Amino acid sequence: MAQVLSLRVFLSSHTQKPSPKSLKLSKRTNKSNTSISTAKKGLVSPSHKIQKLNLEVSPHRAVSAVRLLRIQFGGAFADLLNEKGKGSGDNEMGYVERTLGFRTRDLDDRDLRLVTDIVGGTIRWRRYLDHIIGSLCHDESVFRSMEPLLLQILRIGFYEILKLNMPPYAVVDENVKLAKVALRPGAGNMVNGILRKLVLVKENNSLPLPKLEGDDRAQARALATLYSHPVWMVRRWTKYLGQEEAIRLMMWNNSDPSFSLRANSAKGISRDDLVTQLNSLQVPHEVSSHLDDFVRVKIGLQNVIRAGLLKEGICSVQDESAGLVVSVVNPQPGDDIIDCCAAPGGKTLYMASHLSGKGKVRAIDINVGRLRILTETAQMQKVDGVVATIHADLRTFAVNSPLKSHKVLLDAPCSGLGVLSKRADLRWNRRLEDMEELKNLQDELLDAASILVNPQGVLIYSTCSIDPEENEDRVDAFLVRHPEFRIDPVGRYVPSDFVTKRGFYHSDPVKHSLDGAFAARLVRTL
Ligand SMILES: C[S@@+](CC[C@H](N)C(=O)[O-])C[C@H]1O[C@@H](n2cnc3c(N)ncnc32)[C@H](O)[C@@H]1O
Repeated sequence: MAQVLSLRVFLSSHTQKPSPKSLKLSKRTNKSNTSISTAKKGLVSPSHKIQKLNLEVSPHRAVSAVRLLRIQFGGAFADLLNEKGKGSGDNEMGYVERTLGFRTRDLDDRDLRLVTDIVGGTIRWRRYLDHIIGSLCHDESVFRSMEPLLLQILRIGFYEILKLNMPPYAVVDENVKLAKVALRPGAGNMVNGILRKLVLVKENNSLPLPKLEGDDRAQARALATLYSHPVWMVRRWTKYLGQEEAIRLMMWNNSDPSFSLRANSAKGISRDDLVTQLNSLQVPHEVSSHLDDFVRVKIGLQNVIRAGLLKEGICSVQDESAGLVVSVVNPQPGDDIIDCCAAPGGKTLYMASHLSGKGKVRAIDINVGRLRILTETAQMQKVDGVVATIHADLRTFAVNSPLKSHKVLLDAPCSGLGVLSKRADLRWNRRLEDMEELKNLQDELLDAASILVNPQGVLIYSTCSIDPEENEDRVDAFLVRHPEFRIDPVGRYVPSDFVTKRGFYHSDPVKHSLDGAFAARLVRTL
């Protein structure tokens, strides 16, 4: 994935395409910096000299700026859990050196936490920050043509001052230093000028922000800036939820995410065992009130990763909202379950852990790389004996295979609109046009999955979306096409707080403080 990314790949894989000139990753004239010209060509010569350690610039800001560039240009996932990619200090320092032309000291735990906060927050608040940065530039073209690294440094400074409320003059000094060393003295002067303007307008309470006034469109645009989301999402949520609830949802999406850990019972690990380990690692946690195997963690996930709890299969990171989808499936020892869109396997593995070594989960997925991850994790979690993977497109597999089951899960590809607090960058990558494509795919996959269900068997349709068009509407359209299915209310399987009037499972980010998810049980009557 992201871990073996050369700067050349980084430059060619970006989604927006600034000219090489506008990237200006290499224009450095500062004498105090020892950067060499290999970075200039976007290449690292095998014989290049080890750069001198730069002790002037704060390491977490340098790392944050480079990580933000990599995320913006498609070289990394913003999913801060990606252990292999971003957790790897060596790789990260390699990117810093190649991009900025200097090395920083290694990051300690505090630095790592700061990088996580700054990168996540800066991405979430991008629209809001860019609006204010643009307003404080002396003309709009300066903002529009700003070189990417300079813009990232400004975003970091603005985020630190506006959202982290850090001492403003320290923020100015540190970011000016970074711009001077990583770019050139002129860039430092520009950062200095714009950040100082920000400090002034903030002190005078006169931040240039849009007012919530005018027609629906104007209000949606203002809300999109104030709460930093794409306009189309604001319009959609205002339509389905009303303005107040839409604002609450955006506030939730902008808050720091918490994570849940699932104790791996298949390896004989109980939640009490996991709690003992978390106590010894001094990771604050709370046991789930909905699921016996789950524990919530707000901070300290890095400690869990570093202690090897995930690698050793002691626990896995899984949101309770996804765990509750498995409750809706209700896997029992001896079951033969088909999981139609299974990779990377969160639900497959949790279902497999319920089988007590008896039965099978057949995990189908079109993506071979993700299936490989599923296979490796199944081995690590000691459930490989009850998991069989099938690499296939469900749509062709279902019509050609004799395989049938009494329990079929379709955890469909979806917009992910329920998981925006964890996937900081997702809001900027999703487009309104995606929704139509996804709905068509969901219909096709539902039709295919239904072929695999035995008479009296159940098809569970789930998503990690909160959008009715991907959830209830897909079920309704399916029932029109397939009158041989009926809704089986989920009240017997999940707490009543999660059951909708129509008998579907729905976790609501604002109400339940979990990711948003949906599931329906559909029983084949013939
Ligand atoms: C929401 S993800 C599944 C997440 C998984 N159930 C879990 O809990 O980890 C959707 C999956 O559908 C797979 N997919 C998309 N189109 C497919 C198709 N036509 N046939 C089979 N799998 C497909 C994707 O590769 C992706 O892994």
